[in-house]
Amino acid sequence: MAQKRMKKILVTGAVGQIGSELTMELRKRYGNDNVLATGRKTKPSKMLLNSGPFEFIDIIIKETVEKVVDEYDIDTIYNMAAILSAVGEEKPLLCWNVNINGMYNILEIAHEREMTRVFVPSSIAVFGPETPQDNTPQETVLKPKTMYGVTKVCGELLGDYYFKRFNLDIRGVRYPGIISSETLPGGGTTDYAVEIFYEAIKNKKYTCFVKEDTVLPMMYMPDCIKGTIDLMDTDISKLKHHCDFNLTAMSFSVGKLVDEIKKHIPEFTCNYKPDFRQAIADSWPRSIDDSAAREEWGWKPEYNLPTMTKDMLDKLSNKLSLGR
Ligand code: SER
Repeated sequence: MAQKRMKKILVTGAVGQIGSELTMELRKRYGNDNVLATGRKTKPSKMLLNSGPFEFIDIIIKETVEKVVDEYDIDTIYNMAAILSAVGEEKPLLCWNVNINGMYNILEIAHEREMTRVFVPSSIAVFGPETPQDNTPQETVLKPKTMYGVTKVCGELLGDYYFKRFNLDIRGVRYPGIISSETLPGGGTTDYAVEIFYEAIKNKKYTCFVKEDTVLPMMYMPDCIKGTIDLMDTDISKLKHHCDFNLTAMSFSVGKLVDEIKKHIPEFTCNYKPDFRQAIADSWPRSIDDSAAREEWGWKPEYNLPTMTKDMLDKLSNKLSLGR
């Protein structure tokens, strides 16, 4: 295992939902100039641009990554670039290319340069209809029915392979749906849990693309960021798992979320018009057993449905009233 001092961090997918907030937190902790934000084509926010370095790269094209890795002397990578479940069904080849070939490039580059550490996110999408849907165990059936899920199972296996075969220190979690107020999610099945807040504030009504009784595991962004960095900071001797930690904070149906929002916006109404994403949601767990993460690296979320809802509404109302 390479034992180098942490020097410089690369975040891929830094313009995305998780990457944008992760970059800002990493910059806060490790210094603005030590965290290179990168994206493929979406214009970065002013916040991202003004707080530290930014470069366009495409993880499918290895040389574009190598160039910035060498230029900025990178030795830690958070590979947040990914095509999510809904877009993955519309563009399966792109999903494969970014999530598998892109990740392969990242692992090769990290291995070739003996980097200190790599983070590769996985997802609840690794599970499928044959998986137990309540309190889904850490070790269980992984037979996803989406291209996104297929790439995430493969990504977990590839990451664990690089750890065992090449001693590359690589870590990852199976994120549940992530709810956040800064950057919109980019084409996943759990996006309704974010859109609903924008519509509740702006229009007092929302048409949801999954049914009222659909229950999925979720997490608020501050917990997501904290969990990600905490796992990366854990001493490797404590870890029995590497790229496949189950992780969750709360589980609720859309109906329960609507009730919670109504406590703050009583006139809010929600209609239901399920589309192809219903089948994806139905194939995923309702709740997750994340005891391995709790035991091995002390995972403990702070936010539940009521505290997340209040914070989301406060932050978004503020942001939307400022016209951001
Ligand atoms: N939020 C993701 C999606 O819905 C799940 O990892 O695709």
